[in-house]
Amino acid sequence: MAGTKREIPQEVIERVKKLREEIEYHNYRYYVLDSPVISDAEYDALMRELKELEEKYPELITPDSPTQRVGYPPAKEFREVTHALPMLSLDDAFEEKEVLEFDRRIKRFLNLPEDQDLEYTVEPKMDGLAVELVYEEGRFTVGSTRGDGYTGEDVTNNLKTIKSIPLKLFSEDGLPIPRLLEVRGEVFMRKEDFRRLNEERLNKGEPPFANPRNAAAGSLRQLDPNITAQRPLDIFFYGVGRVEGYEFKTQWEILTTLPKWGLKVNPLVRKVKNIQEAIAYHHEMEKRREELPYEIDGIVIKVNDLSLWEKLGTKARSPRYALAYKFPPTQVTTQVLDIVVQVGRTGAVTPVAILKPVQVGGVVVSRATLHNEDEIRRKDVRIGDWVLVQRAGDVIPEVVMVIKERRTGQEKPFRMPENCPVCGTKLVRKPGEAVWRCPNRGCYGQLVRHLLHFASRAAMDIEGLGTKVAEALVDRGLVQDIGDLYYLKVEDLLQLPGFALKKARNLYEAIQRSKKTTLARFLYALGIRHVGEVAAQLLAQHFKSLEAIRKASMADLMSVPGIGPEAARSVWEWFRNERNLKTLEKLLQAGITFEEEEAGETSAEKSLAGLTFVFTGALKSMTREEAKRRVQALGGRVASSVSRNVDYVVVGENPGSKYERARALGLKIINEEEFLRMIGEKS
Ligand code: IVH
Repeated sequence: MAGTKREIPQEVIERVKKLREEIEYHNYRYYVLDSPVISDAEYDALMRELKELEEKYPELITPDSPTQRVGYPPAKEFREVTHALPMLSLDDAFEEKEVLEFDRRIKRFLNLPEDQDLEYTVEPKMDGLAVELVYEEGRFTVGSTRGDGYTGEDVTNNLKTIKSIPLKLFSEDGLPIPRLLEVRGEVFMRKEDFRRLNEERLNKGEPPFANPRNAAAGSLRQLDPNITAQRPLDIFFYGVGRVEGYEFKTQWEILTTLPKWGLKVNPLVRKVKNIQEAIAYHHEMEKRREELPYEIDGIVIKVNDLSLWEKLGTKARSPRYALAYKFPPTQVTTQVLDIVVQVGRTGAVTPVAILKPVQVGGVVVSRATLHNEDEIRRKDVRIGDWVLVQRAGDVIPEVVMVIKERRTGQEKPFRMPENCPVCGTKLVRKPGEAVWRCPNRGCYGQLVRHLLHFASRAAMDIEGLGTKVAEALVDRGLVQDIGDLYYLKVEDLLQLPGFALKKARNLYEAIQRSKKTTLARFLYALGIRHVGEVAAQLLAQHFKSLEAIRKASMADLMSVPGIGPEAARSVWEWFRNERNLKTLEKLLQAGITFEEEEAGETSAEKSLAGLTFVFTGALKSMTREEAKRRVQALGGRVASSVSRNVDYVVVGENPGSKYERARALGLKIINEEEFLRMIGEKS
């Protein structure tokens, strides 16, 4: 370019140099050390001053000036960069025994005794994308992605937009700066920033990123560095390539020296004495994984002594001196078999994807939340789709996105039901709200209570199904009517809070056992209004089959001795309600069978017919429940409280106040032996 060279005052040259040094130092304090020593306003003032001087004297602009982090024009394509030393990948291990084998193999290779301690570094395995940065004479010159390990893409200008990357290396405490330093690290995006970015994208109608790693990769591999500049990326360095003018002896030395040059290293890195400590570090990180602001997918274990690296050498694509000890993956793909809706405590109706069961984050997942109707539409999830499912920690599994490439055309869109799946009430959606709600206040509670009644001792007698379990079953949408109970699998029960395999199996078996019951118990369990234990017994005795009761007319029902008009109407109506019939069908389909009453089924044998018993105190030979069943089987009744209508009060050990009251009323009091004789258990 032609033109007269103008004189630039020496003070300006000095000032520009000073400003750049200061700004880089404050960048380092802020982005690398996370401990700024000046306010944002002061920093902005320095930056502004530098920009103004550079505008006035453009001749002074250099590529490593802090003003040059942004403002590069978009590229047409990425230039290829060859890595002087290949960027290898790591062997994966998921099990402790593989890690122990890794340690043994190294010792065998090095001819070391198996029980000798071998030092390792342990580092979080960042889930982002690997890059290599070249510093020549301390200046950042070229940055590239890992690519296939041998050649990557030139993303220098994009990397420059990451504020924690120094454009020039520092020299802390007179530490020499290498002539050449190839440094390797992982570019990543924080979970919080990822969430915000995806929200923005969804609002703009752009497709969201599946996870922070994809977001980081997508952001770094932008042809326009101005876009990258708007993405909140960061980096942790973990290794070196070629180094000239400095010598490292250990990996630990690398990890502790890089920060002194201004290159950020994850503060969680550690040096350990032996492989056991490395395993302990893995457990510790797995526990802390959730709370970390960025995603890690395991730890990396590296032999500390670099001279051993050479001896151990590398295999085709991975070194023998390092291992990735991974956590179970938190995102996997599977197929949506169905979409159902569940009703929560507050009446919120949530669509849930029923999945082909898969292992995610260490547990089998067969359901994932779809949040709400808008979310399904936004993600366009259809029945039959292949989806990416995510589960982190204790969080409910969710469908992240559809893998549209796998669509066959057979997928069916989902339509939100108009009525509540539990109680049938018309659902409502308030303006401005994303959720549909069941306006029936009692709906959730009704179902929980219904379940508890159904499972109670005198009904289906399902041990282990108490309030907490009933609530959790409804909360998770595992049960929408009592019929669903019999379709629960052990793996469904494993999702309940506090349920391990044993507990889940026990409950499963208790549910299965309850299928064998009596008609009277079943009728009582259905929870038909005005049909208590006694009425259920009377109906069962009279009609003998469920079918007969179902078909019975009002007159038939009213003709049963002991069944009043209210109960008769209630039964008649129950069997004419479509939802009830559906539930009934589900129950019968599940294989509920009715046994004959245990004893005294014919009226001739009903020795206790017309008699009412009350029990107090503990019986030695049977449970209270069994005793009750015996009395009922023999045509008797068991009352829960003492009154003049009671014929016998059976007194066991440590009787309570019922005994006192029975005496006060002058009722017949018998002991356990006398009772057993009465029911024919003893002669
Ligand atoms: S060392 C030869 N250290 O994991 C050793 N890698 O499969 C090469 N990664 O591509 C890598 N954190 O993207 C190393 N602390 C760490 C790491 C790490 C994440 C990634 C890196 C690499 C992949 C290896």
